[in-house]
Amino acid sequence: MKEYLNIALPKGRLGEKVYDLFEKSGFGCPSIREPGRKLVFENENNRVRYFWVKPSDVPIYVERGAADLGVAGKDILLEYEPEVYELLDLGLGKCRLAVAGKKGARLRSDRTLRVATKFSHVARTYYGALGRDIDVIHLNGSIELAPILGLSDVILDIVETGTTLKENDLEVREEVAPVSARLIANKASFAFKKQETDALLAALTKNLEASK
Ligand code: PRP
Repeated sequence: MKEYLNIALPKGRLGEKVYDLFEKSGFGCPSIREPGRKLVFENENNRVRYFWVKPSDVPIYVERGAADLGVAGKDILLEYEPEVYELLDLGLGKCRLAVAGKKGARLRSDRTLRVATKFSHVARTYYGALGRDIDVIHLNGSIELAPILGLSDVILDIVETGTTLKENDLEVREEVAPVSARLIANKASFAFKKQETDALLAALTKNLEASK
């Protein structure tokens, strides 16, 4: 009997696109399309079980083995550095991590740079590599407000279309890293459920190649 693959999907728009790809690849689970507040769905026929998880929590479920596999943005993987295998770039949810500041503002290099961000670890790593001293101001959302109100000099945040920056008179100063959704695996599950995982990987890869 084939083992169930337990898969943590990021709740929200990205998760829906990711699920579409899994479905097209033969790993569908029709009950997931039914409206409601349920969080766990399984398909006995193809032995998959999906969970809707808060996007930033996906690595925790996978690292601790509550899920065998999961899909997380590279931004989240860079921030939490979970002990998981990164198996595949799904090419979805493409955006970038960037440093932005007020349009035209001159940044003083003689002072500790104040950086507002949800990505504190990424900020420390990025500026650490540049040998630059920073004061990290950890925020949980609406990061763009920080430089406008003088709470920080710059922000390090996700930029997708650039609209949020533009509408708030901010501009990109430095590119930090490209971001896209990645398939990640629990290390033990990857060994114990190798056959099932390989089948999923092959189907996803084939589908991604075909849509290129
Ligand atoms: C994200 C990010 C930016 C925005 C970028 O915010 O933090 O604010 O999207 O997208 P854009 O370049 O297409 O404008 P999110 O919507 O996740 O909300 P948040 O403020 O709670 O982080």
